[in-house]
Amino acid sequence: MEDHLPQRVRVERRAVTEAESRHANGPDWDRYADEYQATHGDFLGDTGFVWGPEGLREEDAGVLGDVAGKDVLELGSGAGQCSRWVRVRGGRSFGLDLSLRQLQHSRRIDDESGVVVPSVLATATQVPYAEAAFDVVFCSFGALQFVADLEQCLAEVARVLRPGGRFAFSVTHPTRWSFPDDPSEAGLTATSSYWDRTPYVEIDDASGQVAYVEHHRTLGDWVALLAPRFRIVALLEPEWPEGHDRVWGGWSRVRGRLTPGTAIVAADLV
Ligand SMILES: C[S@@+](CC[C@H](N)C(=O)[O-])C[C@H]1O[C@@H](n2cnc3c(N)ncnc32)[C@H](O)[C@@H]1O
Repeated sequence: MEDHLPQRVRVERRAVTEAESRHANGPDWDRYADEYQATHGDFLGDTGFVWGPEGLREEDAGVLGDVAGKDVLELGSGAGQCSRWVRVRGGRSFGLDLSLRQLQHSRRIDDESGVVVPSVLATATQVPYAEAAFDVVFCSFGALQFVADLEQCLAEVARVLRPGGRFAFSVTHPTRWSFPDDPSEAGLTATSSYWDRTPYVEIDDASGQVAYVEHHRTLGDWVALLAPRFRIVALLEPEWPEGHDRVWGGWSRVRGRLTPGTAIVAADLV
């Protein structure tokens, strides 16, 4: 439920496979990347690390711990802003994203900022790195809510992390799935079940193909999915800050002062 609807689509809730999700979301992010970076680039900052639309920054959250000297992988890295923040602090960060256009923006900002994030075009369910290659894996509103096969994704995270390594991610707060994706008062009335995991799907009118997908997991699902491999060390639910009036898709002061919009989880590989 991003802040865009590509060309002419109809919205459905229906089951979709991992392949359908990937084949839809890569091209969707290619189409949307220019607008995304033009709209949100200044807020993100070329070397900034923002966990979500509330604007919570990693320097304040401290979810990753000290990254200096660490090997760090970002899943769904987009234009690499967060990974660049890690680089500036002495970490060896690498980006991974499904969208070539997002990675082209990453190269552009590498050149403009002089802080280079080596990045790879790949999916978070098939990570092209050796096992135990990283001390930290993180994802700021990146791949996790776009993959159908989250178990496979988490298995990949566990595979490339070193023992005791930190995994941290932000996603749309699961409770938001009960509400319409609307930043106004209309987005404050629950209209669907929190426990309905049926994915949000946009179907392109012209081709009939799946054009965009998001997947929902409840908080209990996240705990159950992480528990076999990770020890959860933090769950942050950032409050909407005073004086922050920026609207980002369905995230706004109107809703943010009453209900959480972002969940940030930190967990260590056991
Ligand atoms: C909301 S953007 C977040 C990007 C960046 N973290 C930021 O804060 O701007 C989501 C990103 O996830 C990427 N993505 C979606 N599905 C993915 C997948 N299966 N594997 C890797 N990246 C994926 C998209 O291409 C997009 O760049």
